[in-house]
Amino acid sequence: MIDLNQITKQLVAPKKGILAADESLKTMTKRLSSIGVESTLENRSMWRQIMVETEGIENYISGIILYDETLRNPLSNGKMIADILKEKGILVGIKTDEGTYKFNNHEETFTLGLDNLEKKYEEYKKMGAVFAKWRAVYKVGDDLPSKEARVANAIGLTQYALITQRAGLVPIVEPEVLVLEGDHDIETSEEATEEVLEDVFKWLERFNVDFSGMLLKPNMVLAGKESKNQPTIEEIAQKTVKVLKKTVPEEVPGIVFLSGGLSPDEATEYLKKMNEMYKNDLPWQLSYSYGRALQQEGLKAWSGKPENISQAQKVFIERCKKVSEARG
Ligand code: 13P
Repeated sequence: MIDLNQITKQLVAPKKGILAADESLKTMTKRLSSIGVESTLENRSMWRQIMVETEGIENYISGIILYDETLRNPLSNGKMIADILKEKGILVGIKTDEGTYKFNNHEETFTLGLDNLEKKYEEYKKMGAVFAKWRAVYKVGDDLPSKEARVANAIGLTQYALITQRAGLVPIVEPEVLVLEGDHDIETSEEATEEVLEDVFKWLERFNVDFSGMLLKPNMVLAGKESKNQPTIEEIAQKTVKVLKKTVPEEVPGIVFLSGGLSPDEATEYLKKMNEMYKNDLPWQLSYSYGRALQQEGLKAWSGKPENISQAQKVFIERCKKVSEARG
């Protein structure tokens, strides 16, 4: 019998967190084009290989979320990425959602990917995966997120979590409210995030998803980028933890934030502040599952050039260390 709680505990072990390296083909193409690199399978794999081969990564990273093609294809050295991670004691995760479907006049989305999910897990488990991720996305705006978006995505996340646990993998449930997009203040984000999380946990509970065998991956509570009222770091920490305390059951072992477009320094500082202010009063661990905030600096340092690899790895591991230290 697979002990899901044990896997969650390993993922949020002290000083460690998750690296999200599960960019879809489209997103990875965007990331590579930002550094002037063509999006070939070889280049996409190479960046991921550079990260996993960084010496000492296992001191800060407990698990890595991968995209299907990275798990399925050998790296340039002929090795499978799952084997490298296994040698380093890093757990293998897999993104299982298949993007979003637009509704409400193209204003909102729900997430696709439930078809054949059970079958896909049989293969992913054979390839070494022990945890999974599914992302739902919500916009903030006048009357958004709508009740329809909240219910559709809460049910989608619940079905995914249920199927994932039955298959013997830990689900990371990721309801991402796009709090940075727009000119709203932090209170608007607070309300939207609270409503979204309330619905998510209501449905997870109704379907008897085992809270002790899952992780939540939420956004932090922030003002929109264009807002004139930018909050202090203390306000961000205070409001984010307040919403989580209201909505997340104590049995959930950990909360692993997404970075959602924050700079590496912002994502690091905000997590650090939350742990400084609240760590000893919380039932769950506050950790990270960052994509851009962990990768951005290293990716830029690499810029697709073999002669930059060791500098890129240096920059990448420095950021991993700083984020790890933000766990307190
Ligand atoms: P970011 O940290 O770049 O938001 O990515 C996290 C993630 O996994 C989004 O689904």
